[in-house]
Amino acid sequence: RTVSLIGAPTDVGASVRGAGMGPDALRVAGLYETLTRIGMAVIDHGNLAGPPTPWAPPQGGVRHLEEVVAWNRSVFDRVAAVLAAGQVPLLMGGDHCLAIGSISAVARHCRYAKKKLRVLWLDAHSDVNNPAISPSGNVHGMPVSCLLGQGPSQLVGWSGQPAALAPADLDFIGIRSVDADEKEAIREIGLSVYDMRHIDEHGMRNTMTEALQDVDEDTHLHVSFDLDCLDPMDAPGVGTGVRGGPTYREMQLCMEMIADTGRLGSLDVVEINPALDVRNRTAELAVDFVASLFGASTLAR
Ligand code: ARG
Ligand code: MN
Ligand code: MN
Ligand code: MN
Repeated sequence: RTVSLIGAPTDVGASVRGAGMGPDALRVAGLYETLTRIGMAVIDHGNLAGPPTPWAPPQGGVRHLEEVVAWNRSVFDRVAAVLAAGQVPLLMGGDHCLAIGSISAVARHCRYAKKKLRVLWLDAHSDVNNPAISPSGNVHGMPVSCLLGQGPSQLVGWSGQPAALAPADLDFIGIRSVDADEKEAIREIGLSVYDMRHIDEHGMRNTMTEALQDVDEDTHLHVSFDLDCLDPMDAPGVGTGVRGGPTYREMQLCMEMIADTGRLGSLDVVEINPALDVRNRTAELAVDFVASLFGASTLAR
């Protein structure tokens, strides 16, 4: 299968500037070459265009709504086109607000293709804020709400249904930073969260066995990979790092177990901030993990 790289160079939903340089950081780290080396056919579509980041304060609890909508429209259209062509879209962010466009397009595709969509959200944060409860107004903290049909109306319903995802379609892995009102939202909605305590107690192997247990041949797996899921010691190039993430080994196992299902259909790689990174270490780490997600292993390929 062909992997299509889509760059979305924006930090429009983030809390600090710099994530807009993520796509080129991934290219410099050898994403294309690495995927080619492990036997994938790869197309780099270059970068999408969109408005500059105004860096304005929130209005009605949201920052940069108009620009967030514009970027997500471009992402939605390109991800939809890549899926329609039978390819695997790999969205290179950009900040995590772009998952709204990406996953909305994936959800629409799955409805037409009669596939069951499962989303694995690898993140330090639960990103389930909305304008009424967000402490920051940054949309990268709200994509999950939008996808569940509960965000600002301009960012909801793009999949053609009131909600792109049902709560049961989504599993969070690696969570360790949840705002006060997000905790309530998680309980009320009934979201499945494998937080760091769960991973500490059960190990990554049991955690992923559980998270992947209902994946079958009709499943389309989407991975939304926020690099701040990793420990900031390993991944310093992120805007909202939180200590205490999975180790390099644990994250490799997570990726390998996803690869083993053979059902990976689309991927977001978001929140790499080269302005905060150390010699592109975080983008290089991301390339390592993406290779594992696409089946690279020590003794095969
Ligand atoms: N919970 C915080 C907020 O809403 C941080 C969100 C961080 N999200 C991310 N995708 N890095 O502002
Ligand atoms: Mn995060
Ligand atoms: Mn579930
Ligand atoms: Mn995130």
